[in-house]
Amino acid sequence: MESFLDRLLADPGAATSSPVRRETDVADTAERAGDAAPRAEALPDVPQGPSAPRIAIYDTLTSPPRVIAVEEKDLPALIASLAEKTYSYCREMGGQVPYTVLQELIENLLHAYFKDVVITILESGQTIRISDHGPGLDDKERAFLPGFTTATADQRRLIRGVGSGLPIARESLQFLRGVLTVEDNLGGGAVFTIRMPAHAAPAPAQPPAPSVTLTTRQTKVLVLLMELGASGPTAIARELGVAPATAFRELGILQDMGLIHALGDGKRALAEEGLHLLETIL
Ligand SMILES: Nc1ncnc2c1ncn2[C@@H]1O[C@H](COP(=O)(O)OP(=O)(O)O)[C@@H](O)[C@H]1O
Ligand SMILES: [Mg+2]
Repeated sequence: MESFLDRLLADPGAATSSPVRRETDVADTAERAGDAAPRAEALPDVPQGPSAPRIAIYDTLTSPPRVIAVEEKDLPALIASLAEKTYSYCREMGGQVPYTVLQELIENLLHAYFKDVVITILESGQTIRISDHGPGLDDKERAFLPGFTTATADQRRLIRGVGSGLPIARESLQFLRGVLTVEDNLGGGAVFTIRMPAHAAPAPAQPPAPSVTLTTRQTKVLVLLMELGASGPTAIARELGVAPATAFRELGILQDMGLIHALGDGKRALAEEGLHLLETIL
């Protein structure tokens, strides 16, 4: 889904000249409604220095986070940079949060005039908290319904401002079993928290399916390794009455299937999986 901001960012010139003139139906409507003159004071100054938004990345909860301050020349660049950086830090840690959800919540920082923004990344990138000291939300339930918005004409020069961001973010997270909540911040403002489900534990190692099919000779090789213990191709060839090259090839195939393993001196031994398989077929 392409947002107004996406289009603005796709055309870097649009971000630095007058977006009202260059952009779309949405801005044109505002212009026709008598809101043509950009009133720069109604949008917040780009926060810099100690006011710059910060990203706090927790590798563990027992040591202080890495803190990165993000400064950009204008608000569209700041929104894009915060979204991209947050997304890539989360991904690096194994997080699965969708980019569009981060983008919607970071665009919404405009409603908080980008005041004291902190983005916190926790739990291997699966929990992200976006907090500010803006006005906060007096009706948190309705803010999640399509069409409820406090976006002003000035803000609509940078965001769609039709009250679609929060419902879309919540809905797209639901597909991934994630949740989006909002709380009041300490000292005023909002704290949005995205929680993705904990990573599923790796599936326990399964014995090979009994459907693994071996030739009679390969089965014999496995049985021999069980009876003789670790053996090389010469011993196997002798027992089977085949050429050493044939025994060597069969051992290679069984090894590729993970049923036996090499011991280093040319000898092979039954692997756990090979033993399981023999138990199911003998
Ligand atoms: N960080 C925030 N601080 C204050 N209000 C917010 C914040 N984020 C969202 N909101 C409120 O929630 C409303 C709905 O947000 P959203 O669904 O993204 O629509 P839109 O951004 O188009 O208004 C906003 O209009 C605003 O009133
Ligand atoms: Mg929004």
